[in-house]
Amino acid sequence: MALQDFLDQLDDLGTAAESAFGEAADTEALEAARVTFLGAKKGRLKSIQQQMGSIEREDKPTAGKAFNATKGRIEAAFEAAQQRSDNTDSDSTASNQFDASLPGDTFRCGTVHPITQTIEELKDIMGRLGFSIVDGPEIEDDWHNFVALNIPDDHPARDPLENFYLATADAISGDKDPVGLLLRSQTSTVQIRVMEKTAPPIRIISLGRVYRPDTADATHYPMFHQIEGLMIDTDVSMADLKSVLRLFATSYLGDDVTIRFRPSFFPFTEPSVEADYYWNGQWVEFGGAGMVDPNVLKAVGYDPEEVTGFAFGLGVERLCMRRHGVTDIREFYKNDVRFLAQF
Ligand code: DAH
Repeated sequence: MALQDFLDQLDDLGTAAESAFGEAADTEALEAARVTFLGAKKGRLKSIQQQMGSIEREDKPTAGKAFNATKGRIEAAFEAAQQRSDNTDSDSTASNQFDASLPGDTFRCGTVHPITQTIEELKDIMGRLGFSIVDGPEIEDDWHNFVALNIPDDHPARDPLENFYLATADAISGDKDPVGLLLRSQTSTVQIRVMEKTAPPIRIISLGRVYRPDTADATHYPMFHQIEGLMIDTDVSMADLKSVLRLFATSYLGDDVTIRFRPSFFPFTEPSVEADYYWNGQWVEFGGAGMVDPNVLKAVGYDPEEVTGFAFGLGVERLCMRRHGVTDIREFYKNDVRFLAQF
């Protein structure tokens, strides 16, 4: 047998014995390990010793020395284990069995919800572009959700099947007509609230929940979040809108994201576009935008001859999904920590 092979075997044996003795938890396990390694007839140390016969003559002294060293190493490991087991036997109160070197229970620490994290980051990005943040109520009236946004009475967006209308106590008892409160279906309501109270120039964003009675599937959920933007000034143009949205999308999704604007229609903007990003071989819509319709400016008392503006409303979940590779919106609302802890 080659000397090096013999030395390697000794080394492996020493390591195996140390871990076996180290792990032996009770007297029985310790005895079993002793027989395996130090057994006088069939022990592994014994069988290695027998191989010494086949070592070249001039290598014998080296081999012998190494053998003795390994034997000492294994015996020491055995004695240490024996000592440990004696101590435990003689004083087996719980406090003495406490092993401070064992890993403790894992401590789970909560994380901020991915949608909240996304909202914070979107606020930062738009904040750097000079947009300030405003809030609006989630329970809205007919005026802010529809009328002021140029959505006429007979528009399909007002359909009871498309909205969560709220019935008041009066209406339920039949005493009065419903007053037309609803869970807002879009954050565009905040545009109106801001313009009603503020003179131009305006540069705001608003982020929050919106509600629609959609059946939940991979891309829809009856409650989701939007980021609404509004900029009003004397010469705001469609080019400004496209630059801001492009900068916003690349800041959040990365420089390699491809986005496109498609002509579309919204009652409150003219012209209107929808914005898509390219992902996994297809275009995915992530929001709408456009130049604020003169009728909307008039509804809040602005003069459309003097000011113009752009507005946009984007889906926060859709942005977060693209950024983190989430392919099913429902994941955000299952409250499964295995999902949430990844953010
Ligand atoms: N409110 C629209 C929606 O929820 C999105 C939208 C489109 C917002 C165009 C806007 C806009 O501000 O200008 O589908």
